[in-house]
Amino acid sequence: MFKRILGIGACDEKGVLGKNGTLPWYYPEDLKHFQSIIGDTPLVMGRKTFLSMPRHYFTKRVSIIFTHSPHQFDPSPNLIFVTSLAEFLSLEQQFNELYVIGGAQIYNLFLKENLIQEFILTKIKKSYEGDVFFPLSLLSDWPRLKEDETDSFSIYRYLKPSKIAYADKNA
Ligand SMILES: NC(=O)c1ccc[n+]([C@@H]2O[C@H](COP(=O)([O-])OP(=O)(O)OC[C@H]3O[C@@H](n4cnc5c(N)ncnc54)[C@H](OP(=O)(O)O)[C@@H]3O)[C@@H](O)[C@H]2O)c1
Repeated sequence: MFKRILGIGACDEKGVLGKNGTLPWYYPEDLKHFQSIIGDTPLVMGRKTFLSMPRHYFTKRVSIIFTHSPHQFDPSPNLIFVTSLAEFLSLEQQFNELYVIGGAQIYNLFLKENLIQEFILTKIKKSYEGDVFFPLSLLSDWPRLKEDETDSFSIYRYLKPSKIAYADKNA
C-alpha cells in the first residue's frame, strides 16, 4: 500500500465538478488554497484533467497521469503515464504521499477502491451547470471537519471512517 493517498477537489452542492473540459468557476482564493495544500507533492490525475491544467503545475513535481493511450504524449522526466490501476499500484515504492486531483473518473476509481485516506473538498455555495460530477455519495459516511469558510465556499476535510467506527455504527 502507498503510505498516504489524499484527495483534493472542489464541487458545488450537487457535485458539479466541471463543464466542457474545464472548471465552471473561477475562485482565486480556492486556487490559492489548492496550491498551498498540494505544495510540491506528486499528483495523480486523469488524462482530461491533465490536459485542462496550466503547464506550470507540471514543472516542479512528478505527476502520474491515467490514460489508455500513453504514446500520444512526449516523454518527460516529471510525467508518469499509467494505463491501469494495477500499473499505478506497482509504483508504490516510489512515493510516500500523493494527491489525487481528479477528474470525476479518477475520484470514482480511487474512492471505490478505498485508496484515499483523507479528502479535502471545497463546497462551492453557488450552483453551476456541469457535465461531470463528484461522487458525493462515496463520502457520505465519512466524518468531516470544516477547515475554512468564505462567502463563496466552505472547505471540508473528510476522514476515511476507521474500521472500528464502522463496526460501532453497525452494531
Ligand atoms: N472541480 C475540481 O476540483 C476538478 C478537479 C479535476 C478535474 N475537474 C474537471 O473534471 C473534468 C475532467 O474529468 P473527467 O472525469 O471527464 O476526466 P478525468 O478523470 O480527468 O480523465 C479521464 C481519462 O482518464 C483516463 N482513465 C480513466 N480511468 C482509467 C483507468 N482505469 N485506466 C487508464 N486510464 C484511465 C482515460 O484517459 P484516455 O481517454 O486517454 O484513455 C479517461 O478518458 C474537467 O471538466 C475538469 O476541469 C474538476
